[in-house]
Amino acid sequence: MSSARRPATTAAGEWVNRLRDSRDKRLPRIAGPCGVVVFGVTGDLSCKKLMPAIYDLANRGLLPPGFALVGFARRDWADEDFAELVHDAVREHARTPFREEVWTRLCEGIRFVAGSFDDDAAFDNLASVITDLDKERGTSGNHAFYLSIPPAMFPVVLKQLARTGLAAQAGDQWRRVVIEKPFGHDLRSARELNGIVNDVFPEESVFRIDHYLGKETVQNILALRFANQLYEPIWNSNYVDHVQITMAEDIGLAGRAGYYEGIGAARDVIQNHLLQLLALTAMEEPLSFSPESLRGEKIKVLSATKPAEPLDETTARGQYTAGWQGGTQVVGVLEEAGFQSDSTTETFAAITLQVDTRRWAGVPFFLRTGKRLGRRVTEIAVIFKRAPHLPFETTMTEELGQNALVIRVQPDEGVTIRFGSKVPGTAMEVRDVTMDFRYGTAFTESSPEAYERLLLDVLLGEPSLFPVNAEVELSWGILDPVLEHWARHGGPDPYPAGTWGPASADAMIARTGRVWRRP
Ligand code: BG6
Repeated sequence: MSSARRPATTAAGEWVNRLRDSRDKRLPRIAGPCGVVVFGVTGDLSCKKLMPAIYDLANRGLLPPGFALVGFARRDWADEDFAELVHDAVREHARTPFREEVWTRLCEGIRFVAGSFDDDAAFDNLASVITDLDKERGTSGNHAFYLSIPPAMFPVVLKQLARTGLAAQAGDQWRRVVIEKPFGHDLRSARELNGIVNDVFPEESVFRIDHYLGKETVQNILALRFANQLYEPIWNSNYVDHVQITMAEDIGLAGRAGYYEGIGAARDVIQNHLLQLLALTAMEEPLSFSPESLRGEKIKVLSATKPAEPLDETTARGQYTAGWQGGTQVVGVLEEAGFQSDSTTETFAAITLQVDTRRWAGVPFFLRTGKRLGRRVTEIAVIFKRAPHLPFETTMTEELGQNALVIRVQPDEGVTIRFGSKVPGTAMEVRDVTMDFRYGTAFTESSPEAYERLLLDVLLGEPSLFPVNAEVELSWGILDPVLEHWARHGGPDPYPAGTWGPASADAMIARTGRVWRRP
């Protein structure tokens, strides 16, 4: 190359670099060459969430051209049989429209390996299927192993992945493992589980799915708090009276009695989803949105969080009995198929937490969740203190409550602010009104499913939305004293299906002079 041309090449190189740097961050990134191996393909989660999410990503053009999907299960199946299962799951549950050409391309990369988890030959076969895919499809040695299986099976599968060398990454190839909750049963078992996983995959290759972190509105907590000047000055104990985090479901066990029995509401969702919501609501501003900064702040705030005492006054648990739900008569949990008729597993849990930091000293965080409650709603309500002085006649403010900022996680995603306003007329009467932001009307774009976003992040190696082992262990550390207390003291209190939980939960919050919101 002549020296006269060198500057042009350099300039072109610079231009390409500049273009890369200036890549519009609003555009979704496309995963590089890779494949996903799913264990537990025939399960509910795989059919309802994972397979549809993979198709939706393919449909949005976010998967690489040679993408491969390998199913592993104890079925006497050929690739085509597995492809049929994926096809049916996609047709039934995908978010985006079915397009034949997208499906055909995806289908070319679908493989199936038959075998049980203790079958060495099956895993040797998996290893050779993966080597072939690297050659045929160009997956470049980059593979994610999705363990959509009960945690009791993790050790045997992980051992196989280690034995066959599938967990080892060479050069710039990557190998990642994706695990689903429950991440243990208590702090001790969570540590044990983390140890087992980390023996085979380094922590930076472990992606723990908490699907709440993939929800649009959950990420909006960070935007709301840290992109605005309006809220930060009042986001502390000088102005906030208390915080209520509610995850209410109207469904019962929905065929998952086997999983739920012995686990219960607190382990099922407080340990993970609700404590993550608390962490995002209460944490300090991260230095940046790098995974390290974000997790660092979550870890700090979780370290400062503990149950308020005494536990028999600050917690409540319940079990739904027969009742009415949306005009239908439903049975109590003890009559549900697959649930023990003398079970003490709770279907409702409420706990009071304190966050021992300067920002939150003295501000209770009330968390509650339950099955078969009045309606399906997840929200974070920040309730503010009353104005220190009201220059109105008391009769004129009888219908004035406390200001509130409510982040509606689902359904009807958005944010509501409640404040007092003058009632039209000649008298100076003040009453609560609400100001509403709704995702559905404010934006034309529709949100991707949580699993879609999280799966893409796994393939991109973007770890921000996945809790690390420290967060999991701290969350168990917060919950363990409550679980131990409950195990020692009686059983759950009954509540009729379709109501808002047992009377003991109302009494719990009433002791502090407050009431639950009725969303
Ligand atoms: C899961 C719980 O993590 O979340 C289920 O195991 C619960 O019991 C589910 O029903 C709720 O998820 P979502 O996204 O419908 O709020």
